[in-house]
Amino acid sequence: MREADRDTLTQRTAEALVQTRRAVALTGAGVSIESGIPPFRGPGGLWEKMDPMEVAHIDAFRRDPEKVWKLLIEGMQAVLSVARPNAGHVGLARLEQLGYLQSVITQNVDGLHQAAGSRDVIEFHGTFAWQRCQNCGSRCKTGQVDLSRIPPRCSCGGIYRPDCVFFGEMIPPQHLARAHQLVARCDVLLVVGTSATVQPAAMMPLLAKESGARVIEINPEPTPLTGRVSDYFIQGGAGAVFNDILVCVEDFHAPGAHRHAPR
Ligand code: APR
Repeated sequence: MREADRDTLTQRTAEALVQTRRAVALTGAGVSIESGIPPFRGPGGLWEKMDPMEVAHIDAFRRDPEKVWKLLIEGMQAVLSVARPNAGHVGLARLEQLGYLQSVITQNVDGLHQAAGSRDVIEFHGTFAWQRCQNCGSRCKTGQVDLSRIPPRCSCGGIYRPDCVFFGEMIPPQHLARAHQLVARCDVLLVVGTSATVQPAAMMPLLAKESGARVIEINPEPTPLTGRVSDYFIQGGAGAVFNDILVCVEDFHAPGAHRHAPR
């Protein structure tokens, strides 16, 4: 994409954000790639190396929890335990702090939005920060679970699993309801780093569009939303794009700052 287009779209995005109090972000694995966490699909994606139905479906976990712990969970936890927020996470947290972003609906289980300072985060697919006992349902912070034995056990004897949403499981109803409400009422939906292929998260941009919102996609690669649902497609990595957006927003935001006329 020609450089100028990206500048113009970044400027328009900043303008749209400072003119509304009802902007929401929907994020996916792409926003955490620059923090060293691999995506699920595409080059270097987890599902290129392993079958998600064999390691990330609830039936697979029930069938062989040890295998799922060994093949998926242990590896993900090792990566997540050292990951730190990047400029994409920090940019979204700053927009919230400035009052230009209401909430982040994330498909990620890494907790990096909160670590960057975002306060209103809907963990649509749950989290790896907590474990839940398959038997009694009690929760325990991941760092406090005895991992010397795999799969780890709760005091009731039940098996712990991350408090995330495996394939074949429902989205927590309170998260689904709140995300629907936010998306149906927003003026601007930022769609950042998602391949927009997994439901029900992938239908949120359409719901926003049908409710009259401007849908702004940020991704180095086009997705099924591009040119169909998205009004703007800013082609680039989340870190660099949010740095650019913040420069424009801070410009608008600064008291007495000269207002740039869109080029
Ligand atoms: N910045 C922004 N986006 C990026 C970057 C980057 N630096 N690098 C890659 N991307 C984009 C890719 O182009 C791709 O569109 O991030 C997207 C990652 O897509 P997926 O790996 O499919 O991740 P996601 O959409 O979050 O997956 C949805 O699927 O496997 C399940 O539960 C899992 O939450 C996950 C869901």
